[in-house]
Formats: sequence, structure tokens, C-alpha cells
Amino acid sequence: MANKPGWAGPALAGLLGASALAAACGANAQALTDEAVVRGMNVWKNVGNCARCHAWNGLGNRVEEEEGRGLKSQAPPLVKTALDAPAIDETVRCGRPGSVMPRHDERAWKDFKCFGLGEADIGKDAPDRAPRSLSDQQVKDVVAYIIAFYKSGEMTYDKCVAYYGGPTRTCDSYKK
Ligand code: HEC
Repeated sequence: MANKPGWAGPALAGLLGASALAAACGANAQALTDEAVVRGMNVWKNVGNCARCHAWNGLGNRVEEEEGRGLKSQAPPLVKTALDAPAIDETVRCGRPGSVMPRHDERAWKDFKCFGLGEADIGKDAPDRAPRSLSDQQVKDVVAYIIAFYKSGEMTYDKCVAYYGGPTRTCDSYKK
């Protein structure tokens, strides 16, 4: 899917309005109308393709296998993550050794250490590079999105509609 910068902002704001989004996200309402969060949703969907493993709702219900090293892992539910923003940032940039979570920063492990380890320490166990690396801004934005959209708590019908830009059948199961 093509990267469409600036798409999500007007779409989200226009479709739901700031107050509906606020209602959808409770305490994190402010954050979800934040431009960084809206840009981060676009990075998540259209650049990082994060939903391939983490699913749109962050529940990570897919087991992914990596052929080269035979790794098999399931993405953990981001709605329950214990990580704070700096730890999410490090995970996105560096990936997770021993799992299919790829690194999204080309400089990771080389120009800066990850989890206290450098390239010499990690060797061939360094996580694979993602098909598309992210810029510093894109990492920041996707971290803001994870905190606002997933870490804020359970998935709801209104969040689903915000994600898809309108009511879809996927969202029906969230109707109360
Ligand atoms: C190929 C599958 C895959 C893709 C693509 C992927 N992830 Fe992951 N991700 C994983 C797996 C598997 C884990 C768990 C790693 C482990 O077992 O430690 C993970 C872990 C994480 C964690 C840590 C969660 C926690 O609570 O420990 C974050 C945050 C995360 N991913 C964000 C992202 C973002 C943002 C993107 C897109 C830019 C992305 N992931 C793309 C598979 C993937």
C-alpha cells in the first residue's frame, strides 16, 4: 500500500470530529487527536506494516515464522505492554533478538547499542532489518501512536472505526 502522508489527519478529524475521538479514547483522547499520533497510525499501517504481525487491534494474534533462522514467534498484545515510550522506541529501532520482530533503524546495533549490546556482542543473532526502515520522526510518531491507541487500554468500536476510517464489518464485533 502506498504511503499517503497527511491522509489520516483530515480523515480522522473530518470523519469523527475531535470530540468523538475524545470519547472513543477516554483519558487518552487528547493524545489521539495529536498530529504525531495520526502520523504514527499511518506509519503503522502503510510504512512499517506492523499490523501484519501485531494485527490492527494490537493483539498480535498471528504467529510469524522467519525462514532463515527458523524463528517462530507471536507478537505480544500491545494493549497490555508494560513498556514505556523509551523502551518502545528502542524495540522499534532495534527489533528483538531471538524473535521475528525486525529492526527499523539501519544504524541500530552498529552506530548505537541496543539493550546494552553492540554489533560485536550480538553477531549473527541481530534481528533482521525490516523491509522499510523508519526515519527518526517516523519512529517517534509510531511510538506516540502505540501509547495513545493501544497502551491506553481495550479496543473499542469507536477506535476500530477510527482505525479503518469508517464503520466496517471488522468493527461489528466490538458493538456492545
Ligand atoms: C514480522 C513480524 C513483526 C513485524 C512486521 C513487527 N513486529 Fe513488533 N513484534 C513482533 C514480535 C514477534 C514481538 C515479540 C518479540 C519477543 O518475543 O520478544 C514484537 C514486539 C514488539 C514490541 C514490544 C512489545 C512488548 O510489550 O514487549 C513493540 C513495541 C513492537 N513490536 C512494535 C512494532 C512496530 C511499531 C512495528 C512496525 C513498525 C512492528 N512491531 C513490526 C513481530 C513483529
